[in-house]
Formats: sequence, C-alpha cells, structure tokens
Amino acid sequence: MQLTGSSALVTGGAGGFGEATVRRLVEAGARVVIADLAEDKGKALAEELGDAVTFVPTDVTKDESVDAAIAAATEMGPLRTTVAVHGGPAAARRMVSRDGEPYSTDIFAKTVGIFLTATYRVMSKAAAVMSKNEPLESNQRGVVISTASIAGYEGQVGQTDYSAAKGGVIGLTLTAARDLAPTGVRIMCIAPGTFFTPAYRMNEEEAQAKWGPGVPNPKRMGHADEYARLALHIAENDYLNGTVIRIDGAQRF
Ligand SMILES: NC(=O)c1ccc[n+]([C@@H]2O[C@H](COP(=O)([O-])OP(=O)(O)OC[C@H]3O[C@@H](n4cnc5c(N)ncnc54)[C@H](O)[C@@H]3O)[C@@H](O)[C@H]2O)c1
Repeated sequence: MQLTGSSALVTGGAGGFGEATVRRLVEAGARVVIADLAEDKGKALAEELGDAVTFVPTDVTKDESVDAAIAAATEMGPLRTTVAVHGGPAAARRMVSRDGEPYSTDIFAKTVGIFLTATYRVMSKAAAVMSKNEPLESNQRGVVISTASIAGYEGQVGQTDYSAAKGGVIGLTLTAARDLAPTGVRIMCIAPGTFFTPAYRMNEEEAQAKWGPGVPNPKRMGHADEYARLALHIAENDYLNGTVIRIDGAQRF
C-alpha cells in the first residue's frame, strides 16, 4: 500500500515506539495524527515535524476520545494506517502475595482495559472508517497494526495482568483479519521483546546494562526505530495479514 496522500493514526504516538513510528510514516508520505495522553511531548513532536502531523490529546480508554482522533485523521486524508502502540501502567505483582493475599482483580481488569480492550476499541473504530475508503489495488482499504509483547507468549513472574492482556491482543489478530477480510482492511500485530524506550524510566546506558545481556543476538535492547521500520513495512506490504511478528533478537523470557 502506497502511503502518500493518506492519513495515519498512531495511538501512543508521543511514546518511544510511537514517536519512531510517526517519523517513519511521515517520511513515507503519510499525514499523521499523534493520539496520546501526553500533551507536552505530543505537541512538541507535532511542532517539530510540521504540517504533516497533528497532535490530538487522546485517552484510548474512552470512546469519544478515540472517535475524535480518528475524525482528525480523516480530515487530513483517507485513513489507511492505524498503529495502536499506546502504553499504560501494569502492576508488577504476583497473583498471590507472600502474605497469602490475592492480587486485585480490579487492577487486573484495568491493565486489560488499557492494553487489550482499548486496542480493540482503536482497531474496530479505525477499521470501520477504513472500510468506507476507496479501494486501492487488490481491493485494499487499510491496515491496523496492534502491539503485543513477547510477554503475551511467555510472561514473567508478576505479569499475569500484562501477559493476559498481550495474549489477548495476539489472539485477536487472526480472528479480526478474518472478520475484516471482506472490507479489504488488514490486521497485523507486532510482538516486541525488550526495547529501550521512556517506559523503562532510566537512561539508556543503565537500561542496556541491565536488559541487554539477556538478549541472544544482537546482545542489546532493541531500538524503537527497529519497531517503526517493521510497522512501516507491514503498512506497505499488502500480503502481510492476520499474523503476529515477533521482533526480539531471539529472546525468550
Ligand atoms: N519497550 C518495550 O520493551 C516493549 C516491549 C514489548 C511491548 N511493548 C509495548 O509497546 C507499547 C508502547 O510501549 P513504549 O515502550 O513505547 O512505551 P512509552 O511509555 O514510551 O509510550 C507509551 C505512550 O502511551 C501513552 N499512553 C498511556 N496511556 C494512554 C492512554 N490512556 N491513551 C493514550 N495514550 C496513552 C503514553 O503517554 C506514552 O506516550 C506498549 O503497549 C508496550 O506494552 C513495549
């Protein structure tokens, strides 16, 4: 799919993966909406990148907020690419604490709400709008790329909420692609390993020293642009549909 003349939506577009993806999409000719809670970062990035980019303050846990971000994208051109790469808090807690107390079901549901339910919200709303686009070659109308994690396959201790949510994003992929096949909208998912982004809340040197050695090859954390290049390739390559691509330097948790 050729991106020139189309618009794109990146939820979490002011974050680590999000910013790198916005930059790649703009370079490929798309006009991009950064949909993020983080106003300062989102505005600064939009300002830096100029007319091709708009920041729309967005909370992906709210229907009206996602609708407004999608509407802003369609004003910039037909929405053909959506990348759901927002983050959110996940509480690192064992299912049963050392004192024998069960982990809060409310916190579990909140994590699933942001990582899985909000991804479904963004995906379904974006796909509905894309399904009304003029078709391109081979009846293609657009693509939605979600973001899972290798923790969706092999969660670590204390990650039941996050792993369940990411496993849900993985499970959604093929079924959604099948549902949407008649509309010409593709659904893809990226499952990253360990990438240095602001989510780690430490500087890169410290993070690389802590997490890099656990990655077989290359022996380092991933760079956000390695995610972004994959997202761009997925957007441009019409034959990628209904699958999850791991990008993890062969890491298994
Ligand atoms: N960095 C990694 O190693 C890694 C690995 C696997 C998966 N992931 C996944 O990639 C995604 C992005 O991660 P990142 O490392 O870029 O994180 P990040 O913290 O750098 O960026 C996340 C962005 O999401 C935004 N956000 C948070 N809540 C939001 C909401 N309710 N509505 C809209 N925006 C919201 C934040 O403001 C932030 O800009 C997450 O889903 C994360 O689980 C990251």
